Amino acid sequence: MKLKHITLDEVNSTQEYLKNIELIEGQQTLVSARRQVKGHGRQGRTWTQLEQTICFSFSLPKRENLTICSSEISLYVLSFLKENFHFHGYLKWPNDLLCQHGNKVAGILIDVIKDRVLVGIGINFQSGRITHNFNASAINEEQPLEESQYHEIPKQIFEYIFKRYPQDHLQIILQWNQNCYHLDKDVTIKDDQQITKGKFKGLGEMGEALLFTPSQKLVSVFNGSLRSE
Ligand code: BTN
Repeated sequence: MKLKHITLDEVNSTQEYLKNIELIEGQQTLVSARRQVKGHGRQGRTWTQLEQTICFSFSLPKRENLTICSSEISLYVLSFLKENFHFHGYLKWPNDLLCQHGNKVAGILIDVIKDRVLVGIGINFQSGRITHNFNASAINEEQPLEESQYHEIPKQIFEYIFKRYPQDHLQIILQWNQNCYHLDKDVTIKDDQQITKGKFKGLGEMGEALLFTPSQKLVSVFNGSLRSE
């Protein structure tokens, strides 16, 4: 695989930048940026950059069982950070990374275009003293990033993911559940249509959330935002 790595100082959004390239060139590209000024997250939310945040986007071929893709990617990002940065964190359904105290340190965005999956990843390495995003946290407050790492780490993470993807869904589910912050905790999942409450029982076969409801039913939830009770 020949990778084209585009390193930018500033961009609106690496994800939008990649979308344009993918449509034109259709090659294996990684886009990383020191600063994003219009980063966005799932469900049209804004992704706010902290003082030391790495942000990058790349594409992968579509896999079978596409709905488990975002959980698979979040698992690899967590494993990479554990192995390389001694990060003791957890996963939150469907694909956020949390620190030990349950604050978000990384988010993942998945877009599907034709036969490709566009993956956008943002990871907070240091929050800095001033942040408007009070629920956000960071990987390692003590160790500042060097300038070159804003592009080197995205490349390392891309290679780490590319080596492993796509993995069998049963393996993903097993490992994902072992690293899940909310396993057996009471949660609420809310989307535009409905609110589902129950005990979080891990990932289902398609990457959906399994909740054991107060009426003793195991239900599957495919979309929405999860919060703890
Ligand atoms: C979320 O938490 O909802 C997902 C956040 C994804 C943020 C990353 S940063 C790189 C890429 N470019 C974007 O505009 N968003 C993603």
